[in-house]
Amino acid sequence: MEARIVPFGRQHIPAAAALLAETGKGRGLDTADPVVACQRIQEWATRQPAGFAALDGVSGRLLGFMAVSPPGGRKARVRLDQHATVGGDVGHQVRCALYAALSGQLVGDGVLVHDANVLAGDEGAVASFARLGFGIDQVKGFRPAAPAVWDPRVRRALPEDIPRLVELAEEVQEFHAGPPMWRPPEPGASQMVELGYRRAIEDGPAGLHLLVVAEIPGGRLAGLMQAAPDGRFTGAVTIDLAGVTQRFRSTGVGTALLNAVTDWSAGLGFARCGAGWTSANPVSDRFWRSRGLVPQAYRMSRVIDRWPPGGAADSGPAVLDRDGSPP
Ligand SMILES: CC(C)(COP(=O)(O)OP(=O)(O)OC[C@H]1O[C@@H](n2cnc3c(N)ncnc32)[C@H](O)[C@@H]1OP(=O)(O)O)[C@@H](O)C(=O)NCCC(=O)NCCS
Repeated sequence: MEARIVPFGRQHIPAAAALLAETGKGRGLDTADPVVACQRIQEWATRQPAGFAALDGVSGRLLGFMAVSPPGGRKARVRLDQHATVGGDVGHQVRCALYAALSGQLVGDGVLVHDANVLAGDEGAVASFARLGFGIDQVKGFRPAAPAVWDPRVRRALPEDIPRLVELAEEVQEFHAGPPMWRPPEPGASQMVELGYRRAIEDGPAGLHLLVVAEIPGGRLAGLMQAAPDGRFTGAVTIDLAGVTQRFRSTGVGTALLNAVTDWSAGLGFARCGAGWTSANPVSDRFWRSRGLVPQAYRMSRVIDRWPPGGAADSGPAVLDRDGSPP
């Protein structure tokens, strides 16, 4: 197979949408619908992405595409709707050729942290990115939504809970900053968390945001879960924040909160509910998987330690912070 790699252009959109829809089929992704696939590609294609198409050298047929939206800073992400290829070994060769072109442009522009969102069921893509040096950083998994009895410790959050919930969110962040995740807190994350809380609380019982808390004897809050409809997976709710204070972990609080989310999701007519988690998190990886969540997508990540041009081998690799910026 001889593939020709060319810059991605509007003329590639119809064939790219067909490939993307094919990849999402049977995997619960919104882009399994070819109309949605086309809309998504049109959206990012208008924002001057860095992107390439692979064309069959003989027939000119589109064999795959890969793109990133214009990166801010030193990090770029190939989102789920920004790559698809034909299947099989040709697919692997095409992904490698597309990533060679894309990474050439990115590294040339000083973008050294590369992420790719990949469907867990798209085993060819997972294997290709792994062979290209990417590792699984984040996991998103779901389980069926179903009615469940709420544990007496669990209730919806109230506005007066917010200060304690921010404390709990900060504890979750601190936990992620330690080994083996080493994920430093995002600047402004506490404010984001507070905003999310307010949305869930103001939304009220009929709304599409849920914030549940677990009380321990004495009325102190020991845990929380915050959930909302997933942006990409159809019929699914995703928990975007979950935490139980250290002293009360492994006492069934997390399971009780998850049951409330599962029940709420089913009540709203969602088929599945789930969460995203850091793959290296030894506690939550075990928790979500043992509570029936099955991985549906991964964020795979690669950091390039680029030697300075012409630099000596002992000058050391580039050191970047979490956002891929030099410290
Ligand atoms: C993940 C978390 C929310 C689970 O809540 P929890 O109240 O501990 O959960 P439960 O008591 O209902 O269930 C315990 C399960 O959690 C996991 N778990 C809890 N503590 C653990 C620990 N110290 N080591 C390994 N697994 C642990 C296990 O799967 C355990 O199941 P098991 O008892 O059958 O072995 C909680 O441990 C937590 O807040 N962890 C730190 C922050 C975090 O990782 N948040 C999730 C971000 S995605």
